[in-house]
Amino acid sequence: MWGGRFSENPSALMLKFSESVTFDRRLAPFDIQGSKAHAAMLAHVGLISKREHDAICAGLEVIGREIDAGRFRWETRLEDVHMNIEQALTKRVPAAAKLHTARSRNDQVATDMRLFLKQAAGSLQTKLRAAGRALLAVAGANRDVLVPGYTHLQRAQPVFLAHHLFAWLEMLDRDHGRFAAVVDHANWCPLGAGAVAGTTLPIDREFTAKALGFVDARGRPRVTQNSMDAVADRDVFIEFASACALAGVHLSRIAEDLILWSSAEFGFVSLPDAFCTGSSLMPQKKNPDACELLRGKAARLQGNLHTLLALVKGLPLTYNRDLQEDKPPVFDSFDQTALGLDVLAGVLAGLRVDARRCAAAVADPALLATDLADYLVRKGVPFREAHHAVGAAVRLAENEAVPLDRLTLGRIRSVHRAFDPDWTGVFNLRRAMARRAGTGMPGPAQLRRQFARWHKLLA
Ligand code: ARG
Repeated sequence: MWGGRFSENPSALMLKFSESVTFDRRLAPFDIQGSKAHAAMLAHVGLISKREHDAICAGLEVIGREIDAGRFRWETRLEDVHMNIEQALTKRVPAAAKLHTARSRNDQVATDMRLFLKQAAGSLQTKLRAAGRALLAVAGANRDVLVPGYTHLQRAQPVFLAHHLFAWLEMLDRDHGRFAAVVDHANWCPLGAGAVAGTTLPIDREFTAKALGFVDARGRPRVTQNSMDAVADRDVFIEFASACALAGVHLSRIAEDLILWSSAEFGFVSLPDAFCTGSSLMPQKKNPDACELLRGKAARLQGNLHTLLALVKGLPLTYNRDLQEDKPPVFDSFDQTALGLDVLAGVLAGLRVDARRCAAAVADPALLATDLADYLVRKGVPFREAHHAVGAAVRLAENEAVPLDRLTLGRIRSVHRAFDPDWTGVFNLRRAMARRAGTGMPGPAQLRRQFARWHKLLA
């Protein structure tokens, strides 16, 4: 491969230590795509003949088919995906000895990875939308269900279940935006940067960029503007891993809610058997393993992000072999995020909501204590005073062991004179929800708007 300068081959240990083909072979489709575009450019500028170009591309196609069919012989001796494909091609097509003209593995691998990232981020966007649709279906099938909203994991105020689920949709929608940014940032063609300083040969970088789809919205080629940055830069890898890590955090928080809700203590939902496991000892157990793993994988995704940040931190410009270690975390982040999103969609598709348990949990009149303070505010009582009075009423009800709405008029008036006989009207749950009408609030009118919004976005 670089034999000219060397008097002995790398040791077996060195080969084992330095090879990447065991993991970077998944770049093969992008490597072949990149080589075809590069060959087309070389022919375009006259550095190879049309016949040489045709032979190279035909050979690359045969190799691509062999790889797809699992018939290609990968050799760790040849280090990486780039060398494996080039060597196999050169054995069959003599003209392939010209393929690496004006190219280095440094700009080649940067190009392969950008092609990979564009596809990977796009596919995660699709999966985010699919998980979103599964969420919307649960919300739609349980439109009237109310649950307590929690702060500090204590029951706080009533919300529609759909409002809670739409909070998850907001999280996933922001993830979608982050992957869109990754697609955009990956969309610059490094080919032509060479090893570090470009080439003396008369190449046409814009031609290659166009052939590979590195173009802006108006079809104009986007080529990297500094050859050194082009081979040293791993920012978009890190942005991708970061978007995966944050999506992982969201999956984990969703999973945690589902784990709580499916416990006997809450009983709001039951998870599909297909995404749970039993206990080898306790026959009655049904464990929420899929959700627990969503929580666990979030740690792994954060680890991948950290690996990449640490990898690049102290590197001198430009390419250093350390950078080969960028691939396992990037690939793993993609694989695990993709799996996680599919699993979430599967869990949601089989989720059953127990409307009776939800109704029982939300029936506690204390959840409307804030509404009771608002009642006093409407009568002109300053909020701090109203808050104090209702707090005293809650304590009174607790001491008398009655629900808050069952205090006698005399008792409630003993905490504040502004309470009138109509005070119990506050505890009408439907009316209480209808009052929450402002943008972003959980009232029924807002909910209808949000259903329409998500239907439109996810259609
Ligand atoms: N397998 C290498 C990597 O992934 C390709 C680039 C090698 N470049 C070099 N100068 N050795 O980083």
